[in-house]
Amino acid sequence: MISPGTKSKSQDLTPLIELVQDEMQMVEDWLGTNLIDDNPFVGELLKQIFQAGGKRLRPLIVLLSGRATGKDNEIGRLHIILAVLTELIHTASLVHDDVIDSSDLRRGKETINKKWNERVAVLMGDLLFAQASICLARLMNPPVVGIYGQVLGDLCAGEIKQMRHQFNIDADWDTYIQKSIGKTASLFSAGSHSAAILNGQDNDTVLALKSYGLNLGICFQIVDDMLDITGDFDSKNKAGGVLKPVGGDLRNGVLTAPVLYALAQGGKDSERLRKLIEERLVVEDAGNQEGLSIISRSCAIEKTAELAQKYADDACRDISILPDSPYKDGLCALTEFIMSRAKSN
Ligand code: FPP
Ligand code: MG
Repeated sequence: MISPGTKSKSQDLTPLIELVQDEMQMVEDWLGTNLIDDNPFVGELLKQIFQAGGKRLRPLIVLLSGRATGKDNEIGRLHIILAVLTELIHTASLVHDDVIDSSDLRRGKETINKKWNERVAVLMGDLLFAQASICLARLMNPPVVGIYGQVLGDLCAGEIKQMRHQFNIDADWDTYIQKSIGKTASLFSAGSHSAAILNGQDNDTVLALKSYGLNLGICFQIVDDMLDITGDFDSKNKAGGVLKPVGGDLRNGVLTAPVLYALAQGGKDSERLRKLIEERLVVEDAGNQEGLSIISRSCAIEKTAELAQKYADDACRDISILPDSPYKDGLCALTEFIMSRAKSN
């Protein structure tokens, strides 16, 4: 357990999970048993999806936010359901994302689209969204239903925005941050502030948790984008990452924070990077490698880490209004966990 006032510097999420150990186990049991379908094939696929691992970061955010804003730091069954449905939506979006990206690997294991086919993967994603809807109905809380409805729209809009700007050398910071909010931060934020809503918290507290989730999510996406440049199979694994080859974003013409910084630096390297992207040379191994080297030897990685740290700091500041508790400290320590992924490379 982390005690009040101390912060975990470790890449290890265990001390934070221990704060809500019993509830996390209930979430795990739910994902492992309640979803098992009558159809053995579907049941097998569900098992494959949820046993493939994952950090369970989103359920953790929900449970810590629930306890940090709960009366006497208590939470109940509704928070477990909220944590489950948040993980279901996240997992569903990844199953669909792997179809969109034609990815063969997720968390070091074959994706559903690779192992079976894209039609099965689309339907499995839909099935998970359907399960999340059932959980949402069980909360009997219209504002939370509205928040999660918005999240589904944000996820799609974020993904569409990313698609529309592929290889667009003129994409700007606003596009990048808005896309990161849609793809990632929107769900983090829904989880953190819905947990406070379920506790009947006042508006200031709900808004603080909303902003916390947003800043934490943007920080997470920036670090993820950085790992796509600096990571490797092993370090991504140790850091609880996605176990994918590096350079995938660049290969797909997805311009993330490190690329934007490298392009803005000016000089010959920036010009060459611009050409590699514009002429889609980054799609090929040689061009991709050259692009990665240019980014790595520029100041882009350092600046990207600084940007992520700014969002991490903002997230901790957001929740300063909460009463002191190990759960509040846990929420703040989550920012350090995310930043430690960036520093592990
Ligand atoms: C992973 O991003 C993808 C997401 C965080 C969201 C994807 C969202 C969709 C596919 C839309 C969901 C559909 C509905 C119906 C709500 P990434 O590709 O940057 O990360 P990765 O490296 O883990 O693949
Ligand atoms: Mg992807």
